[in-house]
Amino acid sequence: MSQKFHNPVATFFGNDSLKEIRTLTENQHVALVTFPEARSLGLIDRVQALLGDRLAYIVEDVQPNPDVAQLAGLYERFWQQAGHCHTVIALGGGSAIDTAKALIVGTQSGRFNELLELLAAGQAFTPAQAKSLIAIPTTAGTGSEVTPWATIWDSANLKKYSLHLECTWPKAAIIDPQLMLTVPRGITVSTGLDALSHAMESIWNVNANPVSDTFAVSAIGDVLACLPALCKDLGNLELRARMALAAMKAGLAFSNTKTALAHSISYEMTLRHGLPHGIACSFTLPMVLGLAWGRDPARDQVLQQVFGPDLGTAQQRLRQFLHSLDVKTDFSDYGVDANEAEQIVGYALLGARGKNFIGAERSPVH
Ligand SMILES: NC(=O)c1ccc[n+]([C@@H]2O[C@H](COP(=O)([O-])OP(=O)(O)OC[C@H]3O[C@@H](n4cnc5c(N)ncnc54)[C@H](O)[C@@H]3O)[C@@H](O)[C@H]2O)c1
Repeated sequence: MSQKFHNPVATFFGNDSLKEIRTLTENQHVALVTFPEARSLGLIDRVQALLGDRLAYIVEDVQPNPDVAQLAGLYERFWQQAGHCHTVIALGGGSAIDTAKALIVGTQSGRFNELLELLAAGQAFTPAQAKSLIAIPTTAGTGSEVTPWATIWDSANLKKYSLHLECTWPKAAIIDPQLMLTVPRGITVSTGLDALSHAMESIWNVNANPVSDTFAVSAIGDVLACLPALCKDLGNLELRARMALAAMKAGLAFSNTKTALAHSISYEMTLRHGLPHGIACSFTLPMVLGLAWGRDPARDQVLQQVFGPDLGTAQQRLRQFLHSLDVKTDFSDYGVDANEAEQIVGYALLGARGKNFIGAERSPVH
């Protein structure tokens, strides 16, 4: 049986690779989508210096976890004022990249509600128009720079949407570890754990393939080895680079598999209990490892490449790793009692991402 791996994103990796935006945008008008601190960190000036007059529009108030409440106004202003831009550069964490993915998908009416209705219908659609995207992550976590996925939140209605179209694959990803040196410890931890979760979720996944496995195993090894050291030495460029590469490898892995149960659980934990994404999708990893183990010999073999042959030891190692980063690993640590935890896991297994989990069919909560 042949198994396909496909990823169309051109990747540029390395210190100072930010400058690639010059050659990637020749003769184009460009819009920049970035996070509020980017200006004080000098990032907007650096992009301006590289692009000169090509930089025609800037969105710099992207908030964490792009929410329909903020996106509607942003989207409509963007299509009115930046309609002439050919390319959007997303410079920031997953929130800036996912915001940019929503902005580049043009509706017939130019209204955001039309996009939201299409997303709510859950069917594939061809946008009326689209812009080209260059993604430049400033956190090492989401892998959004090499995936077509964008997570759009509707916190008022306790919902989230997943946007993914052919045009939401970035044309290019620029991974410049120097841009990550200013990420504070808490965000370094939560984003690094997001990357770990992507890699593990791509392994216990019905869509896994040998190429995604290769990226995933390598990413997990890097995160386990580097993240605790990086947390003690946030200015270490070599460790930042290894984490940036790990996040990209994890992104490549799940770009072909999507995520699975731990992410499905995380959406409830973020919407109902306010947990940051990276913690919400990683605190259950030891538990989900237990549910995955023994389901499929081929998957066990891949997990054992990282964690060795004994489940108890593997779970203990993962728990200790998370505790060493001050991340607690029980639902009760987050104010969720056993009944609610069971409900959350049961509900998560029925969600689109939950169904990707290899143990979904035969899970004890069914
Ligand atoms: N598209 C995907 O495949 C995918 C995958 C995982 C997560 N996500 C989404 O990504 C979002 C989370 O992204 P994130 O974890 O990267 O965090 P984020 O983008 O929300 O950023 C977190 C904080 O870090 C700050 N920040 C970013 N870069 C910085 C830097 N270099 N220096 C100092 N501060 C900096 C931001 O201003 C923000 O306050 C969520 O909405 C999540 O749902 C998407």
